[in-house]
Amino acid sequence: MCNVFIEDLIKEMTLEEKVGQCVQLSADYYEVSGEITGPKSTSNVSLEDIKNTGSVLGIFGAEEYKNIQSMHIKNHRLNIPLLFMADIVHGCNTIFPVPIGLGSSFNPKLAYESSRVAALEGRQQGIHVTFAPMLDLAVDPRWGRNMEATSEDPYLNTLFAKAYVEGFQDSDDNQKESMASCIKHFAAYGMVKAGREYNTVDLSKRMLMSDHIPSYKAGIDAGASMVMTAFNTYDSIPCTGNKYLMNTLLRDKLGFDKTVISDWGAVKELINHQVASDDYMATVKSFNATCDIDMMANSYNLELLNAVNNGDVSLQQLDDAVRRILTLKYDLGLFDDPYKFINPDCDLLSKKSLEIAKQASDESIVLLKNNNNILPIKTDNYAITGPMADSSDLMGPWSWHGKQEDVVSNAKYFREENPKINYVSTNGVLNTMHFKNNDIVIYIGGENSYESGESNSKTNINLEASQVNNIKTLFEAGKKVVYVNYSGRPLVLTDIEPYTEAIIQAWFPGTMASASLYDIITGKVNPSGKLSMSFPRNIGQCPLSYREYQTGRPKELGLDDYVSKYIDSENTPLYQFGQGLSYSDCNVKEVELSSNVITDDVDVKITGVIENNSDLISKEVLQVYLNDKCSDLIRPLKELIYVDKFEVENTKEFNITITKDMLKYIDSEFNKTIEDGEVELFIGIDSTILISKTIEVR
Ligand code: GLC
Repeated sequence: MCNVFIEDLIKEMTLEEKVGQCVQLSADYYEVSGEITGPKSTSNVSLEDIKNTGSVLGIFGAEEYKNIQSMHIKNHRLNIPLLFMADIVHGCNTIFPVPIGLGSSFNPKLAYESSRVAALEGRQQGIHVTFAPMLDLAVDPRWGRNMEATSEDPYLNTLFAKAYVEGFQDSDDNQKESMASCIKHFAAYGMVKAGREYNTVDLSKRMLMSDHIPSYKAGIDAGASMVMTAFNTYDSIPCTGNKYLMNTLLRDKLGFDKTVISDWGAVKELINHQVASDDYMATVKSFNATCDIDMMANSYNLELLNAVNNGDVSLQQLDDAVRRILTLKYDLGLFDDPYKFINPDCDLLSKKSLEIAKQASDESIVLLKNNNNILPIKTDNYAITGPMADSSDLMGPWSWHGKQEDVVSNAKYFREENPKINYVSTNGVLNTMHFKNNDIVIYIGGENSYESGESNSKTNINLEASQVNNIKTLFEAGKKVVYVNYSGRPLVLTDIEPYTEAIIQAWFPGTMASASLYDIITGKVNPSGKLSMSFPRNIGQCPLSYREYQTGRPKELGLDDYVSKYIDSENTPLYQFGQGLSYSDCNVKEVELSSNVITDDVDVKITGVIENNSDLISKEVLQVYLNDKCSDLIRPLKELIYVDKFEVENTKEFNITITKDMLKYIDSEFNKTIEDGEVELFIGIDSTILISKTIEVR
């Protein structure tokens, strides 16, 4: 639909002013502090460039916003307001679990509610657009940015994609809590070779379509306002300059008709990739791949005008890009009143926000092992120790505006709740005499938040040796060890598993981390998380997910040799996606199908009952997987096709409608299809305990 105001504005703009809208600068060009999330470029930015710039990233704060926006509008010949963008990924001031943690809640509603809180806090402090959610598939735990993905499963990621985008962008009448969502990174950034950050990506077109594109499509279908290009390559061409990926797939096939922004410096990086010899060629290739905004590369401001004058970029292309950018500003109300929602006294970390944060961290924590039901703990007389016990570094990466002083350490929280608890600092060598009065020791360890996140890939994801030794020492001293792991990625816990009675995966839960851990340890909260990403037995298995393929020589054939296996490890992960315990004793029974045949016109209903044999109400995650027994393209032995989470007091009946469409796979042309034949369905509340039913597809 034509917007007369914007069309009239475009007619008035000079070429320089149009180019300016396609340039994004970081906070430091405005002489204010802010997020610097990439290499500082050489400063080939003129004052004229700054005057015409269309957007800025990393500036935060109501007062700073007002100062910079008013100066910018005054200096701009046509008074076009500046668009303010930032990484509000898992909370603004109130910090929620890192997305890989929230993915373990298997509860997309929490993603919706948490991103609404983030939008409320962020928009009133001057952020119009958030660079979130990241919708890349988590593939390899060596990669630091798994913390920013929601899971290793394409289907679960689509549910969270929709929830996050709608949470950021939904708004009631006064619209104050809405922020535009820029989904990222298009595409398949999680596939970096060897898990090494910014490395090359090489995958088949079919795997791109079936495993990676669904989550971006879900974000686009949910109304995402922007898409950010990925640093990596696809099919030997950097995404930012990849005309197939951006024009044919993103714009034409997925129908995305809004603004595309490069990642930090990614336009100029075409030169490093050696597919451009200079800024001019990088500019032409990126703009012709429909990249509207050059984030911090300082290429468009140098060469886009020349490219238009030389005819390597058409005026129509430039006007289309400017139209998309101005439309985003218009839709955000910036032309009406760029200060409308700015509120220096906005309510941060409100009671309601913290309640949502508490529920989110409660549900993201996964109980992986609980021998002899040692948890919930039945005594006041226990110890806590470990390198993360007195740490407030529990918010994880990309929690820019979260303050550690808002996070209470576990050591402090536990002892405030129960002064009898024996907290032992682990500075230096562990002395078991300090635990002589405690049979149970809660060892809180893992990795620091700066060991995951962007540019923090690792070749070794084993738990640190000193922590392994401490846990063994406690075990050999006769202590029952409950291990709590904080991390932004799966770690290898194989070395400590035999020396623990219980293992809890806490990820980075955010502001309410210690309150959640205390409530889970003491049983006030019944753990309900399921792993969003599999934990390998060792790094040699990586990349590894639950969605493994049968191969031509499956180990399950039972042959000793010449089958797909390792001579030094099991094939399976130590803990797998969809796995997680609760304190209740629940099981699924009476599973029935309405039909053993499914067609385009006849759905199949799966009915059954979840029975809770304990007196503890639990939240259970009902999961349905499929295995297509014979298809034209290989498919994983298990594929998640349905998820629901609900409370179970005594019994809970369920009735799931399975359509033929839900069983289909995606081919290399992004078409969904399935051949006639047998399909096995697996139903359960834990991915390792499933009931199998077979149906026929016709
Ligand atoms: C970073 C990240 C991207 C982020 C952007 C702006 O390099 O790759 O996810 O949104 O720069 O901070």
